[in-house]
Amino acid sequence: MKTDARGCAVSTRSQAAVDHLERAYWRLVSFYGTPLEDLDAASAADPQWMLPHVVRAGFLLSVTEHKLLPEAHAALARAQALAAGANDRERAQLAAAHRCFGGDWHGACAAWDALLNQHPRDLLALQLAHLFDFYRGDARNLRQRVARVLPEWDKSDALYPYVLGMYAFGLEESNLYPQAEQAGREAAGGSACVPWAIHAVAHVMEMQGRHEEGRAWLNTRRSCWAEDDNGLAGHNWWHLALFHLETLDVAGALQIYDEQIATQAAIDVTLQRLDATALLWRLHLLGSDAGASRWAANAAAWQQDEAAAGFYAFNDLHALLAFVGSGQVERAEALVAEVALKAERDEGINKAMAREVGLPLMRGLLAFAKARHDEAIGLLQPMRTVAHHFGGSHAQRDLIDQTLLAAAARSTHHRGLGRALLNERRLAKATTPLTQHWASQL
Ligand SMILES: [Fe+2]
Repeated sequence: MKTDARGCAVSTRSQAAVDHLERAYWRLVSFYGTPLEDLDAASAADPQWMLPHVVRAGFLLSVTEHKLLPEAHAALARAQALAAGANDRERAQLAAAHRCFGGDWHGACAAWDALLNQHPRDLLALQLAHLFDFYRGDARNLRQRVARVLPEWDKSDALYPYVLGMYAFGLEESNLYPQAEQAGREAAGGSACVPWAIHAVAHVMEMQGRHEEGRAWLNTRRSCWAEDDNGLAGHNWWHLALFHLETLDVAGALQIYDEQIATQAAIDVTLQRLDATALLWRLHLLGSDAGASRWAANAAAWQQDEAAAGFYAFNDLHALLAFVGSGQVERAEALVAEVALKAERDEGINKAMAREVGLPLMRGLLAFAKARHDEAIGLLQPMRTVAHHFGGSHAQRDLIDQTLLAAAARSTHHRGLGRALLNERRLAKATTPLTQHWASQL
């Protein structure tokens, strides 16, 4: 019986196919390029092997890109046709991917969890569950799912630093900042480039208001995250731009926006487009003019992807911000109506995400855009404790708090709330110019 690099049984006899899949796994966890060509090569080496098709489906689903669903479906169909020759672990992978495709992200994560209990070094289950824990805002499992398997990984395994990087990010999203930084520095400190670990430490510095250190941390490691077609580069550029914004360096943030975050190739990818939108929104909240042309281009990219409305609430919220920011309030209202309709009609996890989190937030942001600040606060404030249910990181969801700060500053009735939010911020980021900006506004 053949196994992969960490002892998981595989149902192919082709070592070449196993080697190509291993390369694809490295791409999955390192975000260098995409795994698709390596998966093609694995399938070419063994056309009867099911697993590469499941990996393809999992990767396509893991980028929350609505337009890739047909391709994911086709990969699942090819996998299904080859399932008879697969082993139990591989068939469990297929079953989990089917649940994920069907919008049952909780069920998929439970299936990957069961799989990891039996096979703690199953890289695919771990990586996909980690990403979908992120999309489900499940900080506990971002940390503990990795903790449940990490001691069973050999430190000499080439992919070990990437798993440690996952653990670092889970610790950070669990507010365990010193432990997160330690794990992240260890994961990023070896010879391998581990962008997810670098990213985890950047998050720690973001949450603690260590903006100068954060800039240095990212800038001195650019060769390990900003180059060679890395899929996480746009997001790490966004983190670097946030460190610039923390010092109110609007010009520096906009330079990163123009040169790195909002290039055409980046803006076509939803995960990168939403960071671009979020950066423009933060500038807008600061009273900075991000420029009509930037907003228009950003909104146009969302508009091109309008069939995606109602697929994932976290993405929908950013589309709304783009429409509002570009002055298309009616379009934003139409988006809210469409998302509400689909949340009634569709099944899957997004139904609850949209109804409980996405739609109230979108309505609150729409009220803010119309200068109905008290109404905006009434809608946004209750969401603070549940907003993680639609995914994203603490840093990404901070735009809700910053919108509340702006609304409180512009409302005559909510100065107390503004001070309260500012007090939370002062304990984490006492000395940053951005905190001082909000203090001056309130
Ligand atoms: Fe991040």
